[in-house]
Amino acid sequence: MRLLVTAILLLLFPASALGEDLSWAYPVMPRPAPLDNLALKHVPGSAKAYTQAQIDDPFNAPDWFPDEHPPMPVIVAQGQKPLVQACAYCHSTTGDGYPQTASLAGLSPAYLRAQMAQFRAGGRKGVLAAAMIAIAHAISEPDDLAASDYFAALRPRISTKVTESDVVPKSHVGPDGMRFAEPGGETEAIGNRIIVLPEDESRSRSRDPHSGFVDYVPPGSVAAGEALVLSASSKTLPCAPCHGRDLKGLGEVPPIAGRASIYTVRQLNDMKICIRSGGSVAKMEAVVDKLGIEDMIAIAAYLGTREP
Ligand code: HEC
Ligand code: HEC
Repeated sequence: MRLLVTAILLLLFPASALGEDLSWAYPVMPRPAPLDNLALKHVPGSAKAYTQAQIDDPFNAPDWFPDEHPPMPVIVAQGQKPLVQACAYCHSTTGDGYPQTASLAGLSPAYLRAQMAQFRAGGRKGVLAAAMIAIAHAISEPDDLAASDYFAALRPRISTKVTESDVVPKSHVGPDGMRFAEPGGETEAIGNRIIVLPEDESRSRSRDPHSGFVDYVPPGSVAAGEALVLSASSKTLPCAPCHGRDLKGLGEVPPIAGRASIYTVRQLNDMKICIRSGGSVAKMEAVVDKLGIEDMIAIAAYLGTREP
């Protein structure tokens, strides 16, 4: 019955079982064309130079700092034409990912492969999962192994700065689903949203792994999230018994500390509305069942401030 109701609600409100507008959490935008193929861009501290067309090449991700990560397997750096785009194109060479994707650094190889299998089996759906579903169907077993081992060996780090604020710069979703501030400096109320903006637009547009993001969250989110995560309440279960004492993962249960807040909020919502299901997600059912969107934002904000 719950599944049937959810399915009907999903048809009516694709992003939320509550009918709330959650389009801020699922930024999608086609790539612009044509991309600049002449002007060479640089980022601080790197001797390399790429055009915007090279930076946005899905089959040859820019590698600004090759000394800062182990050698990338071909599947990570270049993908496998025609269907498997380079992992580093969307998850970055360092595995930090981008607001519109996911961080993979330091996840366990078994968890990474289990998620690939879930994308294939229909356990993860939705507008942002679409890219992964296509990849999961097309990737070879050896490439899946090589990519998982690569990302699992990387050290996770914080690439976003959680900042509480009543107002945020007005913004729009730009190329590749990344959000950018409108020129002119106008602001608007944050409302019930997490608004993620690059610390430095030009460097993020160049996919510079040294330049991070600011996650604007409503005032009070971090403290409210801390209470939900750490103490027993009628709304949810404490996270540590499953995700580990420091929330840094336990066996195949993934780390949740230090992950980008907008990714966390999407996953909690996806599990609540059952577009992420299957595998071990059943263990999360009682966790998300009574959470409203403010609670999910609060939890995600608090987790985003923790050491990964
Ligand atoms: C075109 C962009 C794109 C490419 C290329 C891409 N991914 Fe993803 N990946 C995503 C997005 C977006 C998500 C988040 C999906 C969601 O929210 O359901 C994701 C999520 C994942 C996850 C789940 C992470 C978690 O914490 O559960 C794994 C694992 C993953 N990708 C592995 C890979 C591997 C391995 C490759 C290369 C073979 C790859 N991805 C290439 C966009 C991409
Ligand atoms: C009973 C065990 C259990 C508890 C309690 C629990 N989790 Fe989970 N959680 C899991 C498992 C297992 C997964 C992995 C699901 C899968 O394999 O797809 C998961 C996955 C997640 C994910 C997705 C991570 C990713 O990489 O995509 C998030 C976010 C998450 N949990 C947040 C929380 C939060 C926040 C709490 C506490 C409020 C919590 N969990 C409590 C078992 C639990």
